[in-house]
Amino acid sequence: MESTPYYFYDLDLLERTLMAVEMNTVSVPYKVHYAIKANNNKKVLSLIASRGFGADCVSSQEIMWALDAGFKAEDIVFAGVGKTDAEIEFAVRREIGMLNCESLEEIIVVNEIAEQLNKNVRIALRLNPNVNALTHEKISTGLAENKFGLTTLEFEELIEVYSQLRNVEITGLHFHIGSQVLNMSAYEDLCHKINKIIPRFEAHFGELTYLNVGGGLGIDYENPDENPIPDFESYFNVFKNNLDIPADFPVHFELGRSIVGQCGRLRTRVLYIKRGAMKNFAVMDAGMTELLRPAMYGAAHQIAKMNYGIEEEKNVYDIVGPICESSDCFAQDVILPELKRGDVVEIKSCGAYAESMSLNYNGRGRIGSVPSNQVATSLRIVKSA
Ligand code: LLP
Repeated sequence: MESTPYYFYDLDLLERTLMAVEMNTVSVPYKVHYAIKANNNKKVLSLIASRGFGADCVSSQEIMWALDAGFKAEDIVFAGVGKTDAEIEFAVRREIGMLNCESLEEIIVVNEIAEQLNKNVRIALRLNPNVNALTHEKISTGLAENKFGLTTLEFEELIEVYSQLRNVEITGLHFHIGSQVLNMSAYEDLCHKINKIIPRFEAHFGELTYLNVGGGLGIDYENPDENPIPDFESYFNVFKNNLDIPADFPVHFELGRSIVGQCGRLRTRVLYIKRGAMKNFAVMDAGMTELLRPAMYGAAHQIAKMNYGIEEEKNVYDIVGPICESSDCFAQDVILPELKRGDVVEIKSCGAYAESMSLNYNGRGRIGSVPSNQVATSLRIVKSA
């Protein structure tokens, strides 16, 4: 019997998704940095690196994974609201492409570390644009109430002290408004804010040579089989049509979920069926420790039984995990072909923020993954005799 649970990665779909990104950026000087936090699986990283994408990292560990997978140091960008001194030193020594700084104190620390290392470091300012990404509040990052990016107050203070910071050169701007963004008007708002900020930036810091608009494009969690590849055309068109910059100005992007989200599935086996007065529970061998999104954000992922007989009777289940928390529930009142102990189901759209967010809670170990170039067999319908 196949050992479960595990993450299944459809590398063909990943490749087709990367090609869709490439097709939509071929005529413009856009550079896409894959956000490693979405999924750091080695095979996934190597495939993305091999196609010439950059990497967006938020820790020195992620930078090491990126370098190991073959991303070039100059194509790595490093963001994060709480970089440690050791992480800054590591990034400066490795001469990565860009440090996106998020507070005045951080910039002062970068300057001190650069001075000790006798280096001159180019940095970008991550500004908080106060734009509503129209997404779940827990994954919104661009509102004034969110902790990310320099505030207007800090931007003004930086202007005052910039001349004393001899070892940093502020050359660019960075933004990221949030994740699972499906309403393109949020990105239009961001572009309009950027157009207003650029002249203010240039008045104090000189010519802007670097612009990074972050990531966040969402995926279709409701219909993953019908829409496996996100609408990159509409996404990139917003920036092509609304940014007031010369046509040859390079723009950097940090896409995570839209690149890997649909290529991954979590396969998990029924341990027990519990029949209750109000509910039937299917207790699975994977739980919130392997896919935290439903417990943490109330996220809904499609669930399907694998290898089911076409005439199987349908039943209603709560699909739950083994963890000692009531929030350890993947979905309530799901209609599925009858489930029995030993049956395998797959939870779709688990390529992003599933494996990379897995936990050891309840003494759980990390589970394996199966990256495959074969067409996913997940929905094969077995005709009953
Ligand atoms: N750039 C920055 C600075 C970010 O903070 C993020 C994601 C990205 C890029 C990539 O965003 P994406 O294209 O993947 O949306 N765990 C949550 C998502 C958290 C996103 C954190 N930042 C979830 O499972 O929905």
